[in-house]
Amino acid sequence: MRARRSCLAVPGSNPRFIEKAQGLAADEVFLDLEDSVAPAAKEKARENVVAALRDGDWTGKTIVVRVNDLTTQWTYRDVIDVVEGAGDRLDCVMLPKVEDASHVVWLDTLLTQIEKAHGLPRIGIEAQIESARGLVNVDAIAVASDRLETLVFGPADFMASIGMKTLVVGEQPPGYGEGDAYHYILMRILMAARANDLQAIDGPYLQIKDVDGFRRVAGRAAALGFDGKWVLHPSQVEAGNEVFSPSQEDYDHAELILEAYDYYTTVERRGAVMLGDEMIDEASRKMALVVAAKGRAAGLARARTFERPTME
Ligand code: GLV
Ligand code: MG
Repeated sequence: MRARRSCLAVPGSNPRFIEKAQGLAADEVFLDLEDSVAPAAKEKARENVVAALRDGDWTGKTIVVRVNDLTTQWTYRDVIDVVEGAGDRLDCVMLPKVEDASHVVWLDTLLTQIEKAHGLPRIGIEAQIESARGLVNVDAIAVASDRLETLVFGPADFMASIGMKTLVVGEQPPGYGEGDAYHYILMRILMAARANDLQAIDGPYLQIKDVDGFRRVAGRAAALGFDGKWVLHPSQVEAGNEVFSPSQEDYDHAELILEAYDYYTTVERRGAVMLGDEMIDEASRKMALVVAAKGRAAGLARARTFERPTME
């Protein structure tokens, strides 16, 4: 699995931002040809993106291009020009506004042809779920291609699609007094992703000056189990990486559970045992594995280790 705690959106029409993105600590950078690029700038943006993929230094980052959605006149040429021009530098193509499985099948087929024609390595797909229809079809979308790596929530387009009564992306709509208006949507996407071993990524938070707001909204998705979130500005990158990594305390605890459980099940041959005041068993090991894997991927180092009990 590629790291995607912070997925930086960079308009393909802005060479200065593309240059700057290379020096930021985002796990993923996606160069955008869709909604951050004006119609009149679409063709030039394609050229910028190919040049940036060829000449830029993207070492250590997951590198993605978002093409235009399938209702436009641009999509086929976006895919052909970008993949023929720099497919060997690309990890994934992101397809926005995916409404049903056929959209993903279309992209899979086109990628297969271009890869064959040019002897390119295999390119993955990220699918944005950003309409009521996309969400209703999300289970079928999630199995539409084995190139799929992530399902990505697109909150702005989604809120427009369902008529949510607010313009502030990611925040609770005024008048909705109870609960979280996004809970069902996030959970629906997360279930489809997890049922098919895909990552689940939350979309943008547009109030880029409000880093606390970003942390709050990102924390909501992270708490449910999402793997990462889009970031639009350098100030959000660090916050995103932090929110989607386990805390030092949780990481240490997870490693401790793994070590203790390994010791008790193999040396003492017991299945459910006490670790301090906590009972741990096979299910605890599974939860600990997830947290430990995220912590290791985030580069956390252990602050304490398991001490074997001394024999009486
Ligand atoms: C992202 O594409 C969004 O619509 O929020
Ligand atoms: Mg969108």
